[in-house]
Amino acid sequence: MNQAAPKPPSLPVPEPVALEHSRQLSRHIASAIAAAHGWVPFDRYMALALYAPGLGYYSAGAAKFGKLASDGSDFVTAPELTPLFARTLARQAAEVFEASGAAHILEFGAGSGRLAADLLLELEALGRPCAQYAILELSGELRERQRATLSAAAPHLVDRVIWLDALPAAFSGLMIGNEVLDAMPVRLHVRRDGQWLERGVTVRDGSFAFVDQAGATPAALRDLAPDDGYVTESHEAAQAFVRSVAPVLARGALLLIDYGFPAREYYHPQRAQGTLMCHYRHHAHDDPFYYPGLQDITAHVEFTGIAEAGIEAGLELLGFTSQARFLLNGGLLDLVGTLDATDPLTYLPAVNGVQKLLSEAEMGELFKVIGFAKQIDGTLSGFAGGDRSHTL
Ligand SMILES: C[S@@+](CC[C@H](N)C(=O)[O-])C[C@H]1O[C@@H](n2cnc3c(N)ncnc32)[C@H](O)[C@@H]1O
Repeated sequence: MNQAAPKPPSLPVPEPVALEHSRQLSRHIASAIAAAHGWVPFDRYMALALYAPGLGYYSAGAAKFGKLASDGSDFVTAPELTPLFARTLARQAAEVFEASGAAHILEFGAGSGRLAADLLLELEALGRPCAQYAILELSGELRERQRATLSAAAPHLVDRVIWLDALPAAFSGLMIGNEVLDAMPVRLHVRRDGQWLERGVTVRDGSFAFVDQAGATPAALRDLAPDDGYVTESHEAAQAFVRSVAPVLARGALLLIDYGFPAREYYHPQRAQGTLMCHYRHHAHDDPFYYPGLQDITAHVEFTGIAEAGIEAGLELLGFTSQARFLLNGGLLDLVGTLDATDPLTYLPAVNGVQKLLSEAEMGELFKVIGFAKQIDGTLSGFAGGDRSHTL
């Protein structure tokens, strides 16, 4: 495989060791494409680029989460911005513990382990300790990082944490996933001559390239007839994930937080180039073939399909709202009010983080929270006002 030329040219060039890693993963993906007679659907390419054992972006050692490109990271997530995110969610967890009678959390895709550590600490501080915190994580490398974060931040609570290799048979308590759905592989679709084609990946002249071919049209696109050239995604893996989790929840709630839109907005005719995005050293661009294994590849979440998958699989929709609304309802500003405003070293970063979480121009409006419930009464205070379930 040729090494992909940097695109756009402003992106930083990786170190030689990283380049070699990317070459190895590229060869691995190329052989999977050859084994599939020269073409794989995009979701297969994305699954390999992110999760190929020992090589994929999430399975190997890239720094990934962090605040600055200089620390080798590619993007920042809410739990990394400020512990006030987790501290607000801890209050929602306490409500679920109360309603379900089970002080248990199951976190999907726990990243660096930051959310787990801060949730455990805050629940303890609230006098509502979490009895067991289970993490289901695809990446072995991240498991080790999570263990290190927890051991450093909450050493006396680390024995409450278990790592699962698969979903348990049954679970009661709070299931939670922050920015997990957006990391699930998507299929790509292109409108051409009044038909939907599926966009897949081939190897041409030693580089990856898109090739569009006829294929089954996903249900979400069947009633859409946008202009020629329109590109979009379908989210079979994320929906299958919700369907697989639903029967496991015996009593409690499932909260999924991520960027995205309801179907009507997602598949708007003006969103003509879809939502596929890549992150490398805090630069966002749209080339999924740029150094496979060294960059994140993601798509926005289509929440109507997520809601339908959950409801069809037996969950009750608890609510759907913006991240800003959910955190404000959940008491984020009360927590800010308890900080020591005379200590600029802690106060300013905290207020900066809160501003990013809430601002319409940053994460406040683009990010949404969808909640499902099983066998519990009432709702969560996070959905008490500004529920947008009717937009799904
Ligand atoms: C964008 S990162 C978010 C990490 C973390 N939740 C945070 O907010 O910082 C996506 C995470 O989802 C995990 N992931 C992706 N698909 C998953 C699945 N089916 N089950 C569990 N974890 C998954 C990845 O390994 C990774 O840890």
